[in-house]
Amino acid sequence: MTDIFDAQLNPNGFLARGASAELFSLSNNKVLKLFRDSVSDEMIDREADTSVYASACGIPTAAALTRVDQDGRRGIVYPRIEGTTVMNWIRRHPMQAGRALDQMSEIHAAMHKCRAGGLRSLKQVLKTDIVHGPSPIAVQQAAIAYLDTLPDGSVLTHGDFHLGNVMMTPQGMTVIDWSKAAAGHPAADVVRSEMLMRFGIGPSDWVTNLWRDWAARRLAKAYFTCSTVTSRELTLWRPVIALAWLRARDAERTPAFQRYLERALVQAGITSGPIM
Ligand SMILES: Nc1ncnc2c1ncn2[C@@H]1O[C@H](COP(=O)(O)OP(=O)(O)O)[C@@H](O)[C@H]1O
Ligand SMILES: [Mg+2]
Repeated sequence: MTDIFDAQLNPNGFLARGASAELFSLSNNKVLKLFRDSVSDEMIDREADTSVYASACGIPTAAALTRVDQDGRRGIVYPRIEGTTVMNWIRRHPMQAGRALDQMSEIHAAMHKCRAGGLRSLKQVLKTDIVHGPSPIAVQQAAIAYLDTLPDGSVLTHGDFHLGNVMMTPQGMTVIDWSKAAAGHPAADVVRSEMLMRFGIGPSDWVTNLWRDWAARRLAKAYFTCSTVTSRELTLWRPVIALAWLRARDAERTPAFQRYLERALVQAGITSGPIM
């Protein structure tokens, strides 16, 4: 516990800030991830447990060492990963972006070869998000009936697999941040990554948007070469993943996301036109 205490007293120990937590460096090549109060205990436990499970499955990741509670703040101690996020790496090596995206997809496909252990069901998560989201009741009901026709799937899905949650290290890429993991269909997780790439938080000027759209296509193309998942399966999952996403945040590039959502809903026969 002493080194955790040191990290909090020593401002130089600050390492990075994410959407849900702050990272501090500890001695002995460890880091402390301290969560914001808004993050639920369930998410923290899931993140820690899944990191251990994914590591045991052979996925390159930092397996949680311990859960700690320090001065009312909840945290997880991880081994320190040497390197930077793929997002930062691509900014520094833009000409090698394609290759980095291909590698990311290889890891994503490898993850989807692991069974999900005792994780919560992704379809159940999607249902809850749709029901608590802002879309009209009739759309919610039609979407849930549609979701019931899709296969459950039982592989390890990350749920937040984007450029900021994969780190580039001298040994290769390493996946972090398993708090949204679930047991589900791989195509659902690939669609989620497509949406994060195209409409997720970050710059959204027109040049970046062109890059985002290109990168999303590249990720999917590379993924298909290492998996049996097809483009048609992505089409099947797109409407429900997009509708569920509405609960969590206003997508960046909102008009573009609205078009994406509406097209997916119409294609699946869930709606016949604009929903809001
Ligand atoms: N084990 C680690 N070693 C070194 N840096 C890390 C480690 N885990 C996370 N980071 C850094 O902290 C940032 C935020 O971590 P992350 O787990 O994604 O938090 P959040 O849940 O807030 O998104 C990462 O982008 C990365 O830069
Ligand atoms: Mg993160």
